[in-house]
Amino acid sequence: PLPEPFQVPLPILPVLEPVRGEDGTDHYEIVQRAERMEILPGLSTEIWGYNGLFPGPTIVSRRGRRTVVTHRNELTVPVVVHLHGGRTAPEHDGYPTDLILPMGGDHSAHQQHAGASVVGSRDYVYELDQPAATLWYHDHRMDFTGPQVYRGLAGFHLIRDDEEEALPLPRGEREVPLMIADRSFASDGAFQYPSVDPSLNGTPGVTAEYMSGVLGDCILVNGAPWPVLAVSDTRYRFRILNASNARRYRLRLEGGGPFVQIGSDLGLLAEPTAHEAIDIAQAERFDVIIDFSGHDVGDEITMVNDHGRDGTDLVMRFVVTRRESDDSAIPDQLVELERLSEEDVVTERQFVFARGGAEAHGMTLWTVNGEPFSTDAIAARPRLSTVERWTIRALNVEHPFHIHLAPFQVLNTGGKDDAGPYNQGWKDTVNLDNGGQAELLIRFDGYRGRYVLHCHNLEHEDMMMMANFEVV
Ligand code: C2O
Ligand code: CU
Repeated sequence: PLPEPFQVPLPILPVLEPVRGEDGTDHYEIVQRAERMEILPGLSTEIWGYNGLFPGPTIVSRRGRRTVVTHRNELTVPVVVHLHGGRTAPEHDGYPTDLILPMGGDHSAHQQHAGASVVGSRDYVYELDQPAATLWYHDHRMDFTGPQVYRGLAGFHLIRDDEEEALPLPRGEREVPLMIADRSFASDGAFQYPSVDPSLNGTPGVTAEYMSGVLGDCILVNGAPWPVLAVSDTRYRFRILNASNARRYRLRLEGGGPFVQIGSDLGLLAEPTAHEAIDIAQAERFDVIIDFSGHDVGDEITMVNDHGRDGTDLVMRFVVTRRESDDSAIPDQLVELERLSEEDVVTERQFVFARGGAEAHGMTLWTVNGEPFSTDAIAARPRLSTVERWTIRALNVEHPFHIHLAPFQVLNTGGKDDAGPYNQGWKDTVNLDNGGQAELLIRFDGYRGRYVLHCHNLEHEDMMMMANFEVV
């Protein structure tokens, strides 16, 4: 039932208005519920959405103001909300067993995974004392993150600050978040996810052939299949997020380019960097400028994926439809970036992400240092405000490493002595190739407490490729 590419307009995601703002705090309310949506022309898809939307509404926070988001669960399953990239207190970070249980219903099935659980709704408090950046929020329920994100529980959360605002970057209609995610559909338009138990209230996991991750054959951007955006012959800023469960992309602009990268996961870079192509793993963000000013009205620029084929090699299209004036610019210097130094390192640790070491439901699970996730095993106890050097190795397949709370800088990857073109600035997720390795300098800022690190291939995460660290 898949449509021809480049027929559907790119959805522009709505920005959520606060319900009230007082004493330096903005309050938001989100209801998580099922809704029907026309994703494929002429067919209806049930999604699970924040406010019934997929992608969820964009939250825009100002550095220095507290953001409180009340999430009400009107779904039939437990949920957990994590602000990916947020420097968040542990009780608000969306620890996988800190469930929001559905209203009513029988909760006995969830006892084994009930951490600090509540029924019906929860307030998540975000101090957000961190630089302007492209964050995102998504479901993080123990064992069920993959299927719940797949059904639609993901949205953008942007942070703005004065430093960013002083730069002459494109803004308004020319600043567009792009959430890329692949999906498969049944012939009636339903999302097709190979859960062992599609109720998501029983046995977790996917059927054996999807152990390595769930890939879809349709590429969605902002929830629309291979969409098209009409642009003027000016510069645009795109905040690109790979929100796919298991797919990685090599993005390139056919008929245009380059991408001028101005920011990474956790904020702006020191200087812009031009790329002919961008490798983006799950959960990574690339903040880029595309300059359409060399183009004529009628030109088409296609964003393609060099890692895909049979449709997954296409992402979206830009069509230049008009001439407009442009007073934006890409400054040579963006922000002052503090660089972590190896001299600051107080401890070194090693983590191996591989398959094996544990079994469940007849399948070999994915593990960190050979251990399946357990809520009470603490893999590392870094001290607050210190810097550590972590070496992460990936075996069997590629694994995007992600750590909550603590921002890092990549020292090197794959034995090379530099970070590579795609790992500049402050990061929270780094791609590791099969057999690959990355050395990171991680700063444990902000809060003491227990957090998780994990693989952001969501099927690997659900199948135990996660560990706790506790900042002490
Ligand atoms: Cu984007 Cu622990 O997750
Ligand atoms: Cu993995």
